Amino acid sequence: MFVPYIISVVTTLLSTKASGSSCWRDTPCNARTTASFSGPWDSYNYSPASRIVSPVNIFTENFTLLSAYPKPTNLSSNVLIYDFGKEVGGIVTVSYNAVGSGQLGLAFSEARNWTGRDSDGSNGRYIPRADGALFAPVTTTLNGTYTMPDARMRGGFRYLSIFTTTDHSINVEITNVTLELSFQPTWSNLRAYGGYFHSSDDLLNRIWYAGAYTLQTNAVPPNTGRVYPLIGQGWRNDAWLGTKGNTLLVDGSKRDRATWAGDLGIALPSVFVSTGDFESARNALQLQYDLQVRYSKEGELPMAGPPLNFFGSDTYHMSSLIGTYEYLLYSGDLQFLALSWESIKRAITYVVKKLNQESGLLYVTGTGDWGRDSQGGFNTAANALMFRTLVTGSLMAGWIRDSISSRWEEQAYVLKAAMNSAVFNWDPVAGAFKDSNVDSSIHPEDGNSLALYYGLASPIHHKNISDKLVTNWGPIGAKCPELKFNIVPFVESMEIKGHLAIGQTYRALDLIRRSWGWYLNNPYGTESTFIEGYLEDGTFGYRAFSGYEKDYSYTSHAHGWSTGPTHALTNYVLGLQLASPGGADWILAPQFGDLKFVEGGFTTSLGKFSAKWTLIPGGYELSYYTPIGTTGRLILPAGETRWPTATIDGKEFRLDIYDGSMAHATKFRVPGGKIAITVMY
Ligand SMILES: *[C@@H]1O[C@H](CO)[C@@H](O)[C@H](O)[C@H]1NC(C)=O
Ligand SMILES: *[C@@H]1O[C@H](CO)[C@@H](O)[C@H](O)[C@H]1NC(C)=O
Ligand SMILES: *[C@@H]1O[C@H](CO)[C@@H](O)[C@H](O)[C@H]1NC(C)=O
Ligand SMILES: *[C@@H]1O[C@H](CO)[C@@H](O)[C@H](O)[C@H]1NC(C)=O
Ligand SMILES: *[C@@H]1O[C@H](CO)[C@@H](O)[C@H](O)[C@H]1NC(C)=O
Ligand SMILES: *[C@@H]1O[C@H](CO)[C@@H](O)[C@H](O)[C@H]1NC(C)=O
Repeated sequence: MFVPYIISVVTTLLSTKASGSSCWRDTPCNARTTASFSGPWDSYNYSPASRIVSPVNIFTENFTLLSAYPKPTNLSSNVLIYDFGKEVGGIVTVSYNAVGSGQLGLAFSEARNWTGRDSDGSNGRYIPRADGALFAPVTTTLNGTYTMPDARMRGGFRYLSIFTTTDHSINVEITNVTLELSFQPTWSNLRAYGGYFHSSDDLLNRIWYAGAYTLQTNAVPPNTGRVYPLIGQGWRNDAWLGTKGNTLLVDGSKRDRATWAGDLGIALPSVFVSTGDFESARNALQLQYDLQVRYSKEGELPMAGPPLNFFGSDTYHMSSLIGTYEYLLYSGDLQFLALSWESIKRAITYVVKKLNQESGLLYVTGTGDWGRDSQGGFNTAANALMFRTLVTGSLMAGWIRDSISSRWEEQAYVLKAAMNSAVFNWDPVAGAFKDSNVDSSIHPEDGNSLALYYGLASPIHHKNISDKLVTNWGPIGAKCPELKFNIVPFVESMEIKGHLAIGQTYRALDLIRRSWGWYLNNPYGTESTFIEGYLEDGTFGYRAFSGYEKDYSYTSHAHGWSTGPTHALTNYVLGLQLASPGGADWILAPQFGDLKFVEGGFTTSLGKFSAKWTLIPGGYELSYYTPIGTTGRLILPAGETRWPTATIDGKEFRLDIYDGSMAHATKFRVPGGKIAITVMY
């Protein structure tokens, strides 16, 4: 199953030294310098061509357009709002001429509603507008400049509000505003993605790329974390995040700017199919195992990394393990597996010890979680993560030839049988899983979605669960039963993958457009990245009533945990999936939904993988281009009534199995390389 020649991998992927110095400050440049795939889809890429960017428009305080940027503009007692047109983050420099003396103020906001003399919330104290502004003393000068201090770097914003003290003692002419982007610090070319996606649906293309860009803004230099303990006034982002590497994948760009393990469950696979930033991902995972060695004899992995160092979450613990599997799958980095295996095994054993002797179910005692109203006991979502931890743990053990593999596989299937039994968590009346074996007050979105996505739910329950999930939908997304009043794209990411995993393509596309489409088209947001969560009424106050103390401005508008569609569209709709490290084995299983064509690809240690499908009258054309020496399996859409015909260059291409009831046909063991097939059905 595992192929020794992939061991040396990630190093070759990352070895190209970039010329020039457009990486962040003195960070070594060690990423690819050109995109793996280029074409018309590049116009959807939100990432700037240069690390130095400027605003695109200048507005008055009440959002009347003053001018496009650049235009020298005078400030007296007014506020000018510089709009960068998309999410950005880093160090701002303002050039100006001044007459008089006073102070220049700079305030930052991701969303339009919190522009003005105070920044949106980021410092973590939930005191409205307590982040305040940066102030610089200004006296009469020609060609003055102000550069904000590194410690006050603003990691995520779209709007920069510039103003002076209100006493009319100073006039300032703003002549230039520039921003040195701090994210994706090891890349000299921020647009050099390893993956791409292009389809007949403009909105889905934009959503795929906004997910990718969100993840880029979450890849940060290791000395730019939010300080902890929290400060009450202003903000500081100069905490060390604990990694020895040069870049780290954190939860959000404005905040919290620390690794959060649960977020990785959605963020990592989306990184691997889009930006291909294996370096930030590997550093985040390595950090988890370093902290385990430092802090936990029992093998527990942290819920959040430095400077927070939170422990106590079984679900987050398992997300790190599942994320490790995803990393190995896409990177092929079996050296990481070899070096970390003892730690990985200890971490799996830590949670396996919590399995109940009689039922085989996980009994959650580490109750920290993503923000759901409650956690603990035989919780459904936690057991879905447990099932996946056992399955992927068993696969990883197989890759490294550890005989524990079969035991974990067996435990996975004992757990699965118990979960699907009405004695435990299945609720036959509702047609969905209860929140736990004893709590049927809600049928959670996370647990039911993960049960589909991870294959925990018995096939006889698939349709019922999908139907039940749809009952939570409103016009702008799925209302989350386990976090009342909220719509949570992190959990919706699980939901769309759940629908797709069982072939409910239309439902998944519908929810992607409703929720992610709503946010991306909302002029009050960043129009380029994805929000952490929002309220059912369409205001941005995620968790306003359950954790964020009514500070609507605290919500992060660039949160990697909300990027599920990026992976989902590549993995299920294009249908290109990996089945062993680096993609030595792969699967192509397209789902058409209401689309006319889709193409896309990504880059692993073995090379470039891409595919394309296009509907034609009576069938479709399908092509793939995968590394020579790899082996694939095609799972092809087919009608329900007759065996489809497949041809290559007009010659018959024999399919192995036709399953009319599932409406697909399978061809096993197709070789890597470049092949185009026409299928009629
Ligand atoms: C908005 O500001 C502009 C320029 O400062 C002003 O002319 C306009 O009357 C203001 N509009 C509103 C609705 O306050
Ligand atoms: C700003 O004010 C100064 C002094 O009043 C004036 O010389 C300059 O032309 C003004 N700049 C703009 C862009 O209006
Ligand atoms: C200020 O900048 C302008 C435009 O770049 C230049 O022409 C002028 O000489 C500069 N003045 C001073 C005092 O540096
Ligand atoms: C603003 O500053 C940048 C960086 O120094 C420079 O490249 C650009 O030309 C300046 N723009 C204007 C309008 O002066
Ligand atoms: C579950 O699905 C079956 C078969 O489609 C259906 O007959 C049944 O009513 C569903 N149960 C619930 C509770 O929706
Ligand atoms: C932003 O402000 C506008 C106008 O005040 C308001 O209608 C809207 O609900 C607010 N948007 C959000 C997302 O909070």
